[in-house]
Order: sequence, then C-alpha cells, then structure tokens
Amino acid sequence: EKGGYEHFMLKEIFEQPKALRDTLAGRLNHDHVVLQEVDLTPKEVALFNKVAIVACGTAYHAGLIGKGLIEHWAKIPVEVDIASEFRYRAPLIDDKTLVVVISQSGETADTLAALRESKKKGARVIAITNVVGSSVAREAHDVIHTWAGPEIAVASTKAYTTQIEGMILLALYLTQAKGTMPKEWITEIISELGKIPDKAEIILKEGAERIKTLARYFEEVGSAFFIGRGLDWAVAQEGSLKLKEISYIHAEAYASGELKHGTLALITEDTPIIALATQRDLYEKTVSNVIEVKARDAKVIGFTFEGNTDFHKSVNEIFYIPETVNELAPLLTVIPLQLLSYYVSVARGNDVDKPRNLAKSVTVE
Ligand code: BG6
Repeated sequence: EKGGYEHFMLKEIFEQPKALRDTLAGRLNHDHVVLQEVDLTPKEVALFNKVAIVACGTAYHAGLIGKGLIEHWAKIPVEVDIASEFRYRAPLIDDKTLVVVISQSGETADTLAALRESKKKGARVIAITNVVGSSVAREAHDVIHTWAGPEIAVASTKAYTTQIEGMILLALYLTQAKGTMPKEWITEIISELGKIPDKAEIILKEGAERIKTLARYFEEVGSAFFIGRGLDWAVAQEGSLKLKEISYIHAEAYASGELKHGTLALITEDTPIIALATQRDLYEKTVSNVIEVKARDAKVIGFTFEGNTDFHKSVNEIFYIPETVNELAPLLTVIPLQLLSYYVSVARGNDVDKPRNLAKSVTVE
C-alpha cells in the first residue's frame, strides 16, 4: 500500500503533483477562479471588515500564507490564530467577519470548537478540509475541499500544499468580488498557478537526490534555524515544524530581520541555517541577514529561484526552485524542506510515519 515507497511520508510527498492538480481541477478559468462550493455575492464580500483564519499545526501555517495573500490581493485585514488560543481569548468577531477554518481531518477538537463559537457569534464560516463529510465540512457554511487523498503519515505534506492552494483560490475569489486587482494580474497568477503541479514534479524528479546529500548537515546537530521574510517566513515555520516532528532536532523559524534582536546569540558553527530567499522584493534584505549568520560561522543552505545568479555567493549550499511569481513560491519552496526532514529522520533511524508522542488527528482538547 506504500506503492513501492519506504514510508507513507515519502509516498505522500511524491503524490503532491497529483494532489495539487486535483485540487485545482475545474477551478481555474482564464481570468477568474470558480469556487462552486462558496456562495458569496460581491455585496456580501464587501461587507466583511475582517477575515479570521483559525487552525492547528501545519494547517495554521497554511493560514499564515492565506493572510499574506488576502491582505495583499483582496485588501481585507486578516488575523490568523491557533485554534486553542482563539477559543479562549474572546475573539472580536461578528456578522462582518469571515472566518476560515483549515483542517486536514476536519475533526480537530479545537478547530471545531472555534468554528462553532464563530457561528454562534454570527460570523460566516468557510472550511478548507481534506475530508468530505467530516465534522468541519458538515458544520461550516461553505467548504473548499482539498483533493489530496488520504494522508497517512502523521507529518502533513500533501495536505499542506493543497491547503495553500485552497487559500490561494479563496484569496482570488475575494479579490474578484472586491475588484481590488487588475484583470491582467489575476490572469497571470492563474496561468502561473496552473503550472505549479508540473514544477512540483520537476523538484521531486531532479531535486530529491540533492536534498538527500544535504541531509548530512543535520545528522549530528542539536539545533537548526529556518529564516526568511514575508511568505518565506511562513514557509520557514512549516519547514521548522517538519524537522522537529520527525527528526526530533530542535528547530526554530525566525523572521530574518528579527535575528539580531536576540537569536543571533544562539547561532554558532554547529547550527545549520536554512535560508529562504524567493521573495524578490525582499531579496537584498535577506542577503544581509545571511551575511550576519555566516559571520557566526554557521553553515547556510539557501533556497532561491533558478534565475537568481547571485545567492550562491552568500551561502554554503544552494538549492534552486523553478521560477514562479512571489505569491505562489510557498507551494514549491516547502517541497525540498519536506524532503530534507524526511531524509534527516531516516538517517537518524526514526519512525518517520509515526513520530513519538504525536497523533495524526487530535479529537480531544
Ligand atoms: C496535529 C497533527 O495533531 O494536528 C498535525 O499532528 C496537524 O500534523 C494538526 O497539522 C491539525 O490537524 P488537522 O486535521 O486539523 O489539519
């Protein structure tokens, strides 16, 4: 049932081109997206003064990307909360709030409670979930299904990338309704989005062996850092969680610009750094942060777009990602990070698919 792969996690990483394709199927038109399951008029969208995204774990990290996109494209303020925090902080939501809950299983207790609380307060609730007929799918007003197929490994991979697609589709849907972006831009983003599954395939075909060799940087270390700015920072948080979950190496994600406000003290030659540099408008700033960590003798593994002929000078190792627009980069950048965690976990002899102390779905508080 592992289809020739050694672990479910590796199988699911390699299933991403298909999962990404299936989740986009029927939803992309030349210059607009179609979300049949979401039933909002432009008038209703115009009344939202806030979007609140709520989720746990990896799904929360997909929410962080959603915030970046919805604010940037649809110009609606967005809050992202961890569900167990949202529930108990008396969030300020009402009938002018669009709440988006994200859950692979659709059964996570805290996420479900947040959904119920939001409905009680009069908010409109959209769910992004991978399980048809799950509690979250049944109780939300609208559902955007991700079509990743069953995910068995505890560490989420294809669910995450398809959740990001769900967020992209929703962000474009809201943008269309609000008319906040010229049609030509929407057309370009949609055209680029359609090419993402093939590019994911290229990374898997051409990059997996290279990532395997980079895993050696992590075999002996006790701690690692993931740094980036903007959407790269959101991906860094997911990359860091993946490494922690299955390799048991302590890892932290840091907004690159925040390093010098404390964390640099922890960076030594024994702390490998994963530096993400896909956001073109933030590139120069990211490079200056990489120079700061290199000055502490840290080994830096850089991730950037193929067209970048400069970044390799600032890092010890480089991994190139096929080019796409800034906003879609997370869909690709995370794939080599998933592979990296996988190979490190295997090298350390861990139980990759069933990491210690973790469950796939947490249906109790
Ligand atoms: C955790 C899982 O318990 O729940 C994570 O170990 C997952 O992988 C999180 O991201 C949220 O789960 P779900 O099903 O609500 O997306």
